[in-house]
Amino acid sequence: MVRWPQSLLFFCMVSIEDAMENPYKMSYHIEPPQGLLNDPNGLVQFNGTYYFFHQWNRFGLDHSYKEWGLFTSPDLVRWQSQGSAILPDREEDEHGVHSGSAVVQDGKLYLFYTGSNKRDGVRTSRQCAAVSENGRSFLKLPECVETPPGFTQHHRDPKVIRGRDCWWMLVGAQKEDLTGAVALYSSQDLTHWTYERVLYDHDLDQVCECPDLFSLEGTEILVCCPQTRKPAPDGRGEIVDSYASYIPGTFDEDLGIFQPGGPRQRFDCGFDFYSPQTFLDQNGRRIMTGWMSRMDDEQEAACPTKAYGYIHCLTLPRVLTWEHDTLYQRPVQEAYSLRRNGRTYGRTADSFQAENGHFELLLKRTNPDAPLSLSLRDHTVDIAYWPETHIMRVTRQNWVGGGIQSREIPLPELTQLDIFSDASSAEIFVNDGAAVFSMRYFTGSENLRIDYAGLVQGERLEYYTL
Ligand code: FRU
Repeated sequence: MVRWPQSLLFFCMVSIEDAMENPYKMSYHIEPPQGLLNDPNGLVQFNGTYYFFHQWNRFGLDHSYKEWGLFTSPDLVRWQSQGSAILPDREEDEHGVHSGSAVVQDGKLYLFYTGSNKRDGVRTSRQCAAVSENGRSFLKLPECVETPPGFTQHHRDPKVIRGRDCWWMLVGAQKEDLTGAVALYSSQDLTHWTYERVLYDHDLDQVCECPDLFSLEGTEILVCCPQTRKPAPDGRGEIVDSYASYIPGTFDEDLGIFQPGGPRQRFDCGFDFYSPQTFLDQNGRRIMTGWMSRMDDEQEAACPTKAYGYIHCLTLPRVLTWEHDTLYQRPVQEAYSLRRNGRTYGRTADSFQAENGHFELLLKRTNPDAPLSLSLRDHTVDIAYWPETHIMRVTRQNWVGGGIQSREIPLPELTQLDIFSDASSAEIFVNDGAAVFSMRYFTGSENLRIDYAGLVQGERLEYYTL
């Protein structure tokens, strides 16, 4: 049993000091008080409070240790760090309490995670559970699910969902032929699980991480993060390539089969987005948060927040919907309550100074076929739309070496841009959330200029500090 609030006072002291000196400190995104944060875990609303657990190395800035940390919130925008929730303190999980999910049943909070053991260099993964009645202390259950034959020990990230007649558990997996898959289990009591079958696989993947499955307006969305590894060209180590994807389709609960109804697509078009997880809140909203971000090794090594003793953050919580065969992601409505000091800028101005790095920029286009360019923070991030080619491109200055990186998408028209910038992140919601670019960026607190060009008669750029 673990009690979490012991070191709260220490965390508060660190945060106040950071806020005074640290130009990258977020104001409305979840960041760890210290150490390294990665995947969101166990997202749930329990007794009215939002619980966002996460992967956490509270002792260092690398991936050598993993437990679950916890943030809670009454409203998805004001977050309180609650410190540690589940620790690697028994044989099944002594080398890591890895990612997983949460459900509420009979007034209790059930957490499902992967216990990792690497004794004598041999990896063993088990799907484990912990239960809480008060949301403060978590009692690990003795029953753990062993990996069935046919899979390697890359078997992790249990996502438990309520089905029509049973509970389902999806597990990110690798088959014995070393290709990626999602494994499906069922249970009546959340404790005893039966392996059913491979729910999804793909020959070109080597592992699938962090699966999820949910229904939006009658379409089932299967989420997985396919991963491939190849030896680095210089012969030193491996290059890991992975991204967050989703596949629309149908889930036949009688047969336990997922039938894809369209191609696999990127969840996010930006640079920094991985391991999204969703949950249904008490208002019936399907809310998603992802890790922003899974940087490559060079970027992680050079990430400027490390000088302040922490690294990485989560995205804004976003509401998911399925409209016109498209996955829409919109900031939760609560994020708009952060708006202060609204101003608008017309086509005569072409640049202005933001007060600080925490702002929203909203542009509703009256002419969706007009070209547009918009730059944040003295061109640290540039956004451009070209109607002749129907391309939207986002570039940023890389903090490793200062080079320019770009991402682009085909876009028949640009009807709306809603940009949420925090001190060192930008989430660009295109056309009311039909596409999103998520990214980190790092620049000095003096670089606050916003430049724009291409507004047509009657268009106004709305600016709010957040
Ligand atoms: C994804 C992941 C998961 C794993 C966790 C470990 O980022 O690799 O598959 O459970 O991170 O921290």
